[in-house]
Amino acid sequence: MKIAICPGSFDPVTLGHLDIISRASGLFDKVIVAVLCNMDKNPSFTVEERMELLRQVTSQYDNVEIDSFQGLLVDYAKEKGAVAVVKGLRAVSDFEYEFQMSMINKKLYADVETVYLNTSQDYMYLSSSVVKQIASFGGDISNFVPEAIHDKIVDRLRNI
Ligand code: PNS
Repeated sequence: MKIAICPGSFDPVTLGHLDIISRASGLFDKVIVAVLCNMDKNPSFTVEERMELLRQVTSQYDNVEIDSFQGLLVDYAKEKGAVAVVKGLRAVSDFEYEFQMSMINKKLYADVETVYLNTSQDYMYLSSSVVKQIASFGGDISNFVPEAIHDKIVDRLRNI
C-alpha cells in the first residue's frame, strides 16, 4: 500500500489545502494529513480544532486520515511507512524553501520522496495567513475556505 503524508500547520485548512489533499487521495492508496504540533507561530486554532476542521472537510475521501505529529517530518513518515510527502507549490516564491526542505529531508531519510503538486490556478494566492488577515478585519472569506467550516472560522478569527 502506497502511503503519502500531507503535512502542514492547517491553521486553518483552506480550499487550497483541500485541493491538494483531494488530488493526493487520487494518486495514493492512503493519505495521512498530518498537523504539525511543534509550532513556533502563534496558532489561532488548537491542534485538536485543526484536526476536527480537517475531518469535517475530508469526510468524503475514504482513503484520507487525519493525524498530528511532533518533531521531524521524516521520523513521522518512517513511523507511518510512507513513500511520499505531498506538498502544494504555489508561486515561485515557495520553491526555494520547499527545495531546501526536500533536500534536507532526503538526507535525513532517503526512502521518502517529496512530491509537489502545482496549486490549482484558483488558489495560487491563498494561504492560511491571508485568510486570517481578511477574516480578522471582517472581510469575506467564503471563496477561500470550505463552506462547511466557514462559520466556525469566521467566529474564531473575528474575535482575535
Ligand atoms: O503549513 P506549513 O507551516 O507550511 O507546514 C510546514 C511543515 C509542517 C511541512 C514543516 O514545517 C515541517 O515539516 N516541520 C517538521 C519539522 C521538520 O521535519 N523540519 C525539516 C527539517 S529542517
